[in-house]
Amino acid sequence: MTVKVTARGAERWKQGHPWIYRSDVAEEPDKKPGIVRVTDRKGKFLGQALYSPSSEIRLRLLTRGKEDIDAQWWAARIAAAAGRRNGIDASAWRVVHAEGDGLPSLIIDKYGPWIVAQLLSAGLETARADVLAGVTAALTPEGILLRNDAAVRRHEGLPAEVVLAVGQVPQVVEVVEDGVKYLAAPWSGQKTGAFLDQRENRILVGEHTKAGGRALDLFTYHGSFALHLARRAKDVVAVDQSTEALARGAENARLNGITNIEWREANAFDLLRELERRRDQFDTIVIDPPAFAKTRANLERAVAGYKEVNLRAMKILAPDGVLFTSSCSYHVSRDVFNAMLADAARDSGRRMQFIASTGAAADHPELLNVPETGYLKGVLLRAV
Ligand SMILES: C[S@@+](CC[C@H](N)C(=O)[O-])C[C@H]1O[C@@H](n2cnc3c(N)ncnc32)[C@H](O)[C@@H]1O
Repeated sequence: MTVKVTARGAERWKQGHPWIYRSDVAEEPDKKPGIVRVTDRKGKFLGQALYSPSSEIRLRLLTRGKEDIDAQWWAARIAAAAGRRNGIDASAWRVVHAEGDGLPSLIIDKYGPWIVAQLLSAGLETARADVLAGVTAALTPEGILLRNDAAVRRHEGLPAEVVLAVGQVPQVVEVVEDGVKYLAAPWSGQKTGAFLDQRENRILVGEHTKAGGRALDLFTYHGSFALHLARRAKDVVAVDQSTEALARGAENARLNGITNIEWREANAFDLLRELERRRDQFDTIVIDPPAFAKTRANLERAVAGYKEVNLRAMKILAPDGVLFTSSCSYHVSRDVFNAMLADAARDSGRRMQFIASTGAAADHPELLNVPETGYLKGVLLRAV
């Protein structure tokens, strides 16, 4: 099938962005999802794309060539992406970061010998068999689990489902990350089973943790930051509002023989107020909340939430203490995040020194011309 696009649609691809929106599609004869040929109004060939007839994002560029997009094509692209990820000191990592790797709407994460993948567009769904064959050929996994329960699939008219597509994938997988072990839950955990995007940040914070000091890990989930903090700190308080997440955290601590983490079930906002009232102090603090800004519409409220948690954390930071703070809200830009931190520092009366500015781990690459590929921002600060 051929889909024709407007001059503005064609221009987007020229500018390096792989998406063409509904409003820039001129003719779509057969509204069936799939891999389509794309031309301009006059019929000039522009490339091949994933086509989603019920999504605002109608076309996602796969190639500017006319080659067959078959299992071998996917295998070659996936193998190339895997080849770009050398030297990761962990047994779990992202092999394909969708648009960031030129494979729009495809996520492939590797947990040891097992693969957890997400097919996030209607066009890509139609290529499921070829994609799975490509993954098998490129990575020879013992099993492939499809975590197709991400909310974005709704915009594509796709069902939310978790499907074992190939072989076997265990409920729980042990991951080793810079010598720290943790259990990931491919079938039921957040994302594909763990927050792989924070891996480098966890290692960085581990290195900056004050030896023999007190540490606080807010929004700890399975304790992944806390485990890194606990290797240096005297004791760590790990906070989450989910009982289940904390139980997994405690299991992770046992796995590492770590006994200096206290697991606190609490709302981080309430606990911060209480800690401030008690004049508690911490030498190392981590803030890794869920995305407060799910849409652009609630940006202002989200920024207020980020400011509150950061301001309170700054107030209970010990002199010379280190704060790692992050936001995974795409709608909160780096500039907005830094400005919020500057406000929080001013209001807390602390002088905060910039140690590092970070993003997602290198296996979650951002494309310069595709801002949507970047969402995670991290800042490491020291109170001086
Ligand atoms: C982005 S995840 C943290 C990921 C984790 N730091 C890691 O590296 O694996 C956010 C966590 O915040 C928890 N959470 C959300 N709102 C909370 C709140 N108000 N207080 C405490 N925990 C909260 C969620 O249960 C979730 O586990």
